[in-house]
Amino acid sequence: MIDTAPILFFDSGVGGLSVVAPTRVLLPNAPIVYAADSAGFPYGTRSEAEIAARVPALLGRLVERYRPRLVVIACNTASTIALAAVRAALDVGVVGTVPAIKPAAAMSRSRVIGVLGTAATVRQPYVDDLAARFASDCTVLRYGSAALVEIAEAKLAGCAPDPAALTRELDGLFAQPGGGGIDVIVNACTHFPLLEADMAAVAPAGVRFVDGGPGIARRIVHLTEGQAWPVQVGPAQVGPAQAGPAQAEDVLVFTRLGETERRLASALGFARVEAL
Ligand code: DGL
Repeated sequence: MIDTAPILFFDSGVGGLSVVAPTRVLLPNAPIVYAADSAGFPYGTRSEAEIAARVPALLGRLVERYRPRLVVIACNTASTIALAAVRAALDVGVVGTVPAIKPAAAMSRSRVIGVLGTAATVRQPYVDDLAARFASDCTVLRYGSAALVEIAEAKLAGCAPDPAALTRELDGLFAQPGGGGIDVIVNACTHFPLLEADMAAVAPAGVRFVDGGPGIARRIVHLTEGQAWPVQVGPAQVGPAQAGPAQAEDVLVFTRLGETERRLASALGFARVEAL
């Protein structure tokens, strides 16, 4: 393994930065390639067939170009639909992101859990399976939100979330029968932890949020145990604000690189921006 081989993070948009951030804390010297499928965004309103066809092919091209030591699908929608196909297609380790229902069940006192994801994620049998295995004594309510994905993208591009819009989306859970009892919300889309403080400010008091980011970061550390990383020279590195201090060589890749993506890249602070 060459020291400079990066970890490749993949999402439809900026959501995967919520997985990069806890990874940075544990592996500050890890070179990172962050790939956003801007041409395919958003995933949450697409069909299973579209995602299953798109994601393995894109990751194949990304792996060929960047030769990562590890691939992280930092997207619940892509992982719950295409993880097995991606693993079968690539000859590099692949870590997926799945709804954090297990930790939510461990945290919940009321035994009512809300799963907030994309529409494509919350309808997956994968979610039924997680609920049956890890939260069989809980009521698990689900809501798919496309609006929250857009609000998170806009926030990272510099536009503050509207509290009324967040309240409307959270009502998708709380207004369901039994929803008033929810005490833990699973952020089952990687975009949503980017809005956690904003959502907590409008959610009923005492509701807690959980997501898979910290667990994935620990898994990445485990899978790269004993591997060498580039040695940093000089003072603190420049890096994306949402993802913590970075290596100057970190790359942001878009599948479509237009004006919106260039503006986003500069708001995020990535020095290197490329088109796939
Ligand atoms: N961030 C993605 C997820 O975790 C998908 C957002 C979207 O493109 O709809 O599900």
